[in-house]
Amino acid sequence: MNTEMRRNSIVVVANRLPIDETVAPDGVREWRRSPGGLVSALHPILREVRATWIGWAGGTGRAPELPDVDGVALRAVPLSTKEFHQYYEGFANSTLWPLYHDAVEQPVHHRRWWEAYQRINRRFAEMTAEVAEREALVWVHDYHLQLMPAMLRALRPDVRIGFFLHIPFPPAELFMQLPRRAELLRGLLGADLVGFQGRYGAQNFTQLANRLLGAQSRYPEIVFEGRVVRTGAFPISIDTAAMEELASRPEVVRRAAQIRADLGGPENVILGVDRLDYTKGIEHRLTAYRELLADHTLKVPNTVMVQVAVPSRERIEHYRILRDRVEREVGRINGEFGRVGVPAVHYLNQNFDRAELAALYRAADVMVVTPLRDGMNLVAKEYVASRVDGGGRLVLSEFTGAAAELRQAFLVNPHDLEGLKEGLLRALDADPADASRRIRAMRRYLRAHDVRAWARSYLTALDDSGALAAALNNG
Ligand code: G6P
Repeated sequence: MNTEMRRNSIVVVANRLPIDETVAPDGVREWRRSPGGLVSALHPILREVRATWIGWAGGTGRAPELPDVDGVALRAVPLSTKEFHQYYEGFANSTLWPLYHDAVEQPVHHRRWWEAYQRINRRFAEMTAEVAEREALVWVHDYHLQLMPAMLRALRPDVRIGFFLHIPFPPAELFMQLPRRAELLRGLLGADLVGFQGRYGAQNFTQLANRLLGAQSRYPEIVFEGRVVRTGAFPISIDTAAMEELASRPEVVRRAAQIRADLGGPENVILGVDRLDYTKGIEHRLTAYRELLADHTLKVPNTVMVQVAVPSRERIEHYRILRDRVEREVGRINGEFGRVGVPAVHYLNQNFDRAELAALYRAADVMVVTPLRDGMNLVAKEYVASRVDGGGRLVLSEFTGAAAELRQAFLVNPHDLEGLKEGLLRALDADPADASRRIRAMRRYLRAHDVRAWARSYLTALDDSGALAAALNNG
């Protein structure tokens, strides 16, 4: 097999498969490509090469046999109920997730969880070793699978391994809290390229490799056990053109107008769209809004807020507590400031389809994105891209990866309540010409820096043969 051929084959490995199971009213079950996130990010690229995606299908027990979805072969990794609890809810989402997000909630440590994490990473590595063509590219995603690169390298030294972390990589002070920190780092160093959302993550990783494992490095290269491991920043993006197209559809525009009418035709619609996660700063934004209503700076029904909180990781205690707190705050705000038929906050704890989200984006005068820490935040990018009308204003936390790119947003520190209120008011009161200049500049940026550009830059760095990047350029 020549080089050109072999690099046309990719195995993507991520905790989740890019599909959802839908059940029609007549009970017929069907798998569909799921909207949003990593899936939509990679889809435009995978269409153009021979691709297999390995991941978990979402349930427990036996893994389903899956059809190809849009030309991508799917292989499901099974998880038992106990493994789901210990690996996914436990080590991935109760140890690593809070720790990597500045420990905004206390990370929980259990030895059993670590054992399950190792076992599942091995399962992913074994399945990948089985399906990868000779000298294929393997692209491993996110914090669930940090041990996998080294495990795969031991099984299949011929493949080229990339790892990309979608969430922040913490500074040494935090990472050092992990009981099995050296093993985790060794796992990552099994890759040829370890990519991060921003330069800080890459630098934290490089420093830790030196300090914990005595690796030699000069950024962006780390020499470990005689191999060169590259690292670097690859800020992920969205399919900008697809978002623009969706947001331009007449039915979406009509729906946006309908939403504004349903909200009572207010002057200002403030919108938040997040997974219901404690890293997203939802409470901080609600508090800011409540105080602005309390001091009469904002008034219902002139101004209303819509908060979409997509259900997420619902059995984990941190998430249950968060939901109670958010819903109590929403109740309090509506109790104090709502009117009959006009709540101050329209709270939606549901999943939304892409078209409805696009309509919400277009209906919103101000989008408030206030995470305490976030690897990127694609919602902020989607909002900007959807404003094909040149309208809208974005209030964005400094602690998101997106803030490094969307410089024309109204940047805020969500911990600073006064600053957050001011940021919100600056956005609401901005001169329309200034606001529209800002949105236009950010839209321009997102057109040049879309998800294809992201994938191309990552894969070009990963693929030493250059053949895959060439295939992508032609596609
Ligand atoms: C973040 C992570 C993804 C994850 C997503 C949804 O964006 O970086 O890896 O898939 O959240 O979370 P879930 O736990 O439902 O997969």
